[in-house]
Amino acid sequence: MGDGMTRNLKNSDSYGGIIAKRLSRRAALMGLASTAALTAVPGLLSKSAQAAARGSLRFAELERVYDQTHHVADGYDASILIRWGDPIAPDAAFDPAAVTAESQSKQFGYNCDFLAYMPLPAGSANSEHGLLCVNNEYPGPHVMWPGMTEDDAGAKATEEQVRAMQASWGHSIVEIRKADGLWSYVQNSEYNRRISGLTEMAISGPAVGHPLMKTSADPTGTKVVGTGYNCAGGTTPWGTILTCEEGLSDTFGGDPAKAPDQKLLERYGYDGSDYYGMARVDERRHLDKEPNEPNRFDWVVEIDPYRPGSVPVKRTALGRFAHEGATTVVNKDGRVVVYMGDDDYFEYLYRFVTKGTFNPNDRAANMNLLDEGELSVARFDASGDVHWLPLVHGQNGLTAENGFADQGEVVIKARLAADHVGATPMDRPEDFEASPVNGRVYAVMTKNAKRKPEQVDAANPRAENKTGHILELSPPGEGKDADHAAAAYKWEVFLLGGDPDKPGDAAKYNAGVTANGWIVTPDNIAFDPRGRLWIGTDGANDFGMADGIYGTDTDGEGRAVPRLFFACPTGAEACGPAFTPDGQTMFVSVQHPAEDSETLEMVTTRWPDFVANVPPRPSIVAIVKKGGGEIGS
Ligand code: FEO
Ligand code: CA
Ligand code: CA
Repeated sequence: MGDGMTRNLKNSDSYGGIIAKRLSRRAALMGLASTAALTAVPGLLSKSAQAAARGSLRFAELERVYDQTHHVADGYDASILIRWGDPIAPDAAFDPAAVTAESQSKQFGYNCDFLAYMPLPAGSANSEHGLLCVNNEYPGPHVMWPGMTEDDAGAKATEEQVRAMQASWGHSIVEIRKADGLWSYVQNSEYNRRISGLTEMAISGPAVGHPLMKTSADPTGTKVVGTGYNCAGGTTPWGTILTCEEGLSDTFGGDPAKAPDQKLLERYGYDGSDYYGMARVDERRHLDKEPNEPNRFDWVVEIDPYRPGSVPVKRTALGRFAHEGATTVVNKDGRVVVYMGDDDYFEYLYRFVTKGTFNPNDRAANMNLLDEGELSVARFDASGDVHWLPLVHGQNGLTAENGFADQGEVVIKARLAADHVGATPMDRPEDFEASPVNGRVYAVMTKNAKRKPEQVDAANPRAENKTGHILELSPPGEGKDADHAAAAYKWEVFLLGGDPDKPGDAAKYNAGVTANGWIVTPDNIAFDPRGRLWIGTDGANDFGMADGIYGTDTDGEGRAVPRLFFACPTGAEACGPAFTPDGQTMFVSVQHPAEDSETLEMVTTRWPDFVANVPPRPSIVAIVKKGGGEIGS
């Protein structure tokens, strides 16, 4: 298939893809919720659950369960650490009947996604006292407030409710402590902080001050109010957080046809749909009045959680797209490498390599490392090679005559630049992370039912990919010697999701996967300190199963043999996870419980409180082994 054909199909398919994703999750679930008996089904799939444990994981696999609450493997405790609305300022409280922008700005945000545990003091390996740094991806008005559905909330929400939604997403930082084996958060900590759609942040890198970044409110193109759709993320070796804006395209109104560069808006899905009604309260969110405002979103934002007054910075050198994660590794030569996915149908995998090197002895010296370096995008070849194609002005045809006047324009239009150099369109790239032990890199494709048979390629091997897959990329060298800055790696399929007992799924695992352990729609991944891979899923409800967390080895006989460890309540996806440095606590974000509900009055669960009139609340769960010890060992 030629590139031109790929691009044409891709552009029409990916237009508004993120919107389609957030809506279609609900649409698919509406039918299911009415027919599925949301009760535990222990035993239903247990015939092979007793299969002998393979590899290094030593927990008794959880049996499939899909009900109103969460579940963890026997021998573990999974307790609620913090919920949407929990007060994180001295004078705050949660009243679900009176959620305002002001109250929400002092409370833990909505729809927790990426999370990181950052030890206190900074730079230590303290596993019992630290900062919990959590993305809050998007609001869920139909299960936050009575009287609205997912489809009419944007029109029905009051102006105060719309501002509360803008205050509810972004990022939450909370001090936490473990005492007697139980985690709790510190309500009055000076570290506690909300960063939201209302927070002013700086712009840095090649796009700062660029003509395409200037608006009437910011004629300098150097600062912007707000972040949003903060999905996955990462941490840096110098102890900052990278929170990723996953494409704000449906939060703008106005007529894109009246904007000067309709093609650019279309390539990023900006269609004026104003899904939450934010353009009603935010004049700048009108595409025809402020056509450059979208260019100020869809970036990676760096936050220093150890300095509560610090200004978050949008790091434009990392490119503009619907960022899923941004995970880092220090290369053997000291340069820092960032792996990133663009989560939309037929989008790409990106890599950024810093120009400078990491200085472990001088934190301040690392603070602007992400402003200079080389952005590149992946082309997967059937030969088993993956090539990193530089997105550098003046190279590969990224010149003024092709619409890229300078590097600022390359990063602002990163998707168009990646189209131009011939990157491989993937099945919705989600998390992308290097193993701290074997040095290989794992890239998660959550699913892509839009891929047609003629669009199948080696790295996206199934048409109508409903169950997702994980690729394994191998840089030259192994472990700490892996060269994450190399121009080419090897790659292979790690696993293909789906039911191994259904030939039509064309799933692929290694021997030993049980009826409980096969996965669908992988999304977030994380490595524990031993380098074992933990996979969160988002989309299993469409298959009549709970989303959850699965553990697998990456090497040996337990390689690509996922095993079910944690299950979410109905409607929720499992995000994170993240570990303390000692591997003894796993934190999981349980995002959008009861999202499969038509309205708050008809919620499928009121997890985790189960109290009438208290809405379902996205929450962080802290999992520890009963009696102590490493998770999974
Ligand atoms: Fe927000 Fe890509 O999941
Ligand atoms: Ca995700
Ligand atoms: Ca997700």
